[in-house]
Amino acid sequence: MAFVDLNDAVIAQVRQAADIVEFVSQVTPLKIAGKSHKGLCPFHREKTPSFTVDRAKGFFHCFGCGVGGDVFRFLQLSERFTFPEAVEHVAARVGIELPRKRKGQRENEKDDLLEVLDEASEAFHQALKWTPNPADDYLRKRRVPAEVITKYGFGYAPDSWDYVLTRLTRKHGEKKLEAAGLIQPRKTGSGFYDRFRNRLMIPIHSETGALVGFGGRSLDASEPKYLNSPDSEVFNKSRLLYNLHRSRDAMRRIDRAILVEGYFDAIAIDHAGVAGVVASMGTSLTTGQASLLRRFARKVVIAYDGDDAGRNATLRAAPILLSAGIDVQALDLMGEKDPDSLVQKFGVDRFLELLGNATDIFQFALKQWAADLSQLSGREKSERVETFVPLLSAVADPVVRNDAAQRIADAFRLEFDTVWSRVRGKAQSAATDRRPSAPGSTAEKMILTAAVQGRLPREVAGRLREEYFGDASCRTLFSIIKTAIVTGEPIDFAAVATHLRGEAELTLLSELTLSEDVDDATLQRIDENLRPLERHFLEQRMLEIQRETVEAEKRGDTQRVDELWSEKRELSRMSSTLK
Ligand code: UTP
Ligand code: MN
Repeated sequence: MAFVDLNDAVIAQVRQAADIVEFVSQVTPLKIAGKSHKGLCPFHREKTPSFTVDRAKGFFHCFGCGVGGDVFRFLQLSERFTFPEAVEHVAARVGIELPRKRKGQRENEKDDLLEVLDEASEAFHQALKWTPNPADDYLRKRRVPAEVITKYGFGYAPDSWDYVLTRLTRKHGEKKLEAAGLIQPRKTGSGFYDRFRNRLMIPIHSETGALVGFGGRSLDASEPKYLNSPDSEVFNKSRLLYNLHRSRDAMRRIDRAILVEGYFDAIAIDHAGVAGVVASMGTSLTTGQASLLRRFARKVVIAYDGDDAGRNATLRAAPILLSAGIDVQALDLMGEKDPDSLVQKFGVDRFLELLGNATDIFQFALKQWAADLSQLSGREKSERVETFVPLLSAVADPVVRNDAAQRIADAFRLEFDTVWSRVRGKAQSAATDRRPSAPGSTAEKMILTAAVQGRLPREVAGRLREEYFGDASCRTLFSIIKTAIVTGEPIDFAAVATHLRGEAELTLLSELTLSEDVDDATLQRIDENLRPLERHFLEQRMLEIQRETVEAEKRGDTQRVDELWSEKRELSRMSSTLK
């Protein structure tokens, strides 16, 4: 990303070529409603659709929570793309080639590493075909079918100190192989040796599908069980989720992710056709992984291992997900070791059954921590309640938080306030309240709406002045569309949106454009709305003129005084017509 050079012309071109309905439809289903499309807002919970999309104008707006804008803004919100990323994404989809910046050295280095990793993966594939070989035996013993081996790109790192080294050094040099985490320096003397030896190699991809590293499973009980690529320019374990590139589209479509611990758990579920599974790869879940997930789904079902370690890991991961604004559920494996062995033993239908029984994380935690209450002393009870605090504090939505606190209080047979007092102060302020303050007074908005919708009578349009708009967003918007309004030409929405990189104005524009059409009755009252604005402007300007005149007289600037006098006369004339 960010190799491209964006200018207004190319941005406008991309926006024009994009069908916003198509982009939005991938996130939320839309139905035709009159001139526009409607659906459930993907940015807040609602039961009746208030999310409106106008294909022709290229805008969306939610009249429930107030978000709105163009296709780029939509992708910034739904995908957490930056603006340039959103433009690049749309450009790629509509087939517009963006002008390339010359690549920086860093990007070239990254590309080099990716190439090295691809070639290493190829070498591991080749080695897996050798017979006999331990990786193949292992896979057979695990009853991993051939199609899984191909689909998930397994390979074999032979039991050798220099398999990768001898194959790739001549072309790429030791430095690059080391940077890619494939070889490491000898502890004594000089030279390098292969990092992965006698391991089953599982390639790990970035969300966009670039091969960025490997997990290597030990085949001879040597430790660690899984040796992973070290962090590098392209591999950052805390910002990666295994299998994300395969499941991201489905995840977004069904707005749900399944989070497992292990590579094989993800593979078992994914291969069985259950959509949207990713693995956190063992170590504790990071905030980076949580926000990555949030870009694709609002709900995550944790399906970690069925032992105590897995349950504790679930309870550690949950607050991190909750803090990212994710709705968290957890699945009880009913004593089974992990999802992989469950699917192996009982088939995927059993997994789906348990998935259907997944409960929200508070219920899951209560089952863990509040099952044996009668045996607990007061002090122990207090400690148990304390364990819920991180979970409760991580919930951004005050209603959900209250509800959960009530359920915990009920389970422990405590007063609500006893539980609540532990949370108070620790709870984050409603971090996910994205409702922007609605700009513009009603009168200003009403007039601007009519203007944007091309319903403003000529006579009224001629009377409008930028200064009438007290609200900054309204004023900016008006100043951009002024010429079109006064001349009665159609507004070029793509061009206007290009000017409006500022979020508030773009949101306002989408709101006004997609609002209900201004009806005749309202238009008839337009004077009632315009007059107070004019009057207010006149009063303010008169006061300013008075002040300025005094100053100009002091300076002896007679020319300026004359100007101010004639402006005052003009304003008085306007004022008399207003009375
Ligand atoms: P597990 O120990 O549960 O492994 O670790 P697993 O997935 O069940 O492995 P199999 O089925 O025995 O082959 C879960 C995940 O934690 C990471 C890996 O991503 C693993 O899949 N892990 C585990 C490591 O990175 N290193 C380790 O040494 C162990
Ligand atoms: Mn496991």
